[in-house]
Amino acid sequence: MVRFFRNLWYPMTLHAPTLQSLDLKGKTALVRVDFNVPRDKSGNITDDTRIRAAIPTLEALLRAGARPVCLTHLGRPDGEVHEDARVDAIGVRLGELMGRTILKLDESTGPAVRAAIHAAPQDQIVLLENVRFHPGETKGDPALARAFADLGDVFVNDAFGASHRAHASVSGIAAYLPSAAGLLLEAEVQAFDRVLNQPARPFVAILGGAKVSDKLSVIENLLDKVDALLVGGGMAYTFLAAQGHSVGKSLVELDRLDTCKQALAKAAAKGVQLMLPSDHVVADRFAADAHAEVCGIDIPADRMALDIGPKTQARYAEAIEAAHTVVWNGPMGVFEMEAFRAGTAAVGHALGRAQGYTVVGGGDSVAAIALLGLESAVDHISTGGGASLELLEGKVLPGIAALGQVH
Ligand code: 3PG
Repeated sequence: MVRFFRNLWYPMTLHAPTLQSLDLKGKTALVRVDFNVPRDKSGNITDDTRIRAAIPTLEALLRAGARPVCLTHLGRPDGEVHEDARVDAIGVRLGELMGRTILKLDESTGPAVRAAIHAAPQDQIVLLENVRFHPGETKGDPALARAFADLGDVFVNDAFGASHRAHASVSGIAAYLPSAAGLLLEAEVQAFDRVLNQPARPFVAILGGAKVSDKLSVIENLLDKVDALLVGGGMAYTFLAAQGHSVGKSLVELDRLDTCKQALAKAAAKGVQLMLPSDHVVADRFAADAHAEVCGIDIPADRMALDIGPKTQARYAEAIEAAHTVVWNGPMGVFEMEAFRAGTAAVGHALGRAQGYTVVGGGDSVAAIALLGLESAVDHISTGGGASLELLEGKVLPGIAALGQVH
């Protein structure tokens, strides 16, 4: 019943109760964070962005007199204890970044955990073990959510990157405790709400990535919202094939030609400019040392397109710089190979120069922005790959929708 009313109030919008709505003084705050950070083969953390991103919430909780207890997943251990998926190194890094000692516990539920939390000083940050060691976590098991809830007084979701998962520690705990969004989740929600629900126009979306099939729902949803949709990456060649162009050996999803035709027709009917590459950087094989050359819109039979060409880069950059709202998800070419990086770099630099409100989501485009050193030139860089994509698809994320059930 509660859920019914929530959905009635918040049909497709992005709203969540904030930290101010919680009574925090002297309380134990369970904080779902997304510390699912990339690591090298030896387990060393190679990018601590997600750990840094949670710190403002942890500091705000401490200032408000709450004892933060962090819950996170790391990797996909499938409900079993995997020694290499323990979160100790994350606790150490969090401690270094915050200049304090983190109390890391080796379990995440049960009376011993509860006792250790409550024996700790009120200003002690606690980090629980990987929640995905429990089989019930990814199943959204209510009993497990209840067991987590038993450890604290309030629940804060700051794990934007995991909020598309209806997992016990993400969307389950809010059924039992007063709950709110942390500052990171709030910032993410505000950024996507601004882009999707109240964009200053012209609103331009840039979509890249290998496959049309991965982005169908995003295309469908964005065509209802944007003034222009700029398409790059492997998915562009299925669109070009659908228009009757020769695409050589480029990646094409033959079973999606009709879908692309429908998207082109929908864009035309709605007056949305669906922009496709008009020239390409091509090679005879998919390899970093392949000889790269530029060709026009039709691709020779023995070549594959691996990046957008210079004319397309200039057209896209012009559209991006003229926009008042820009959202970007997915690279324009094989960004990891230097010879095929220019298209993604051109889009990134244009985004950096744009005067409009700019949002970047998705692992590869975020990595591109970092590689280009453009982090400070973009208004919002999302910490969520799958989660940001689902927002662009128009979906309600379970980790956000669940908040505010209990008062
Ligand atoms: C992510 O890295 O995208 C999030 O942490 C979610 O991880 P998952 O895809 O394993 O659920």
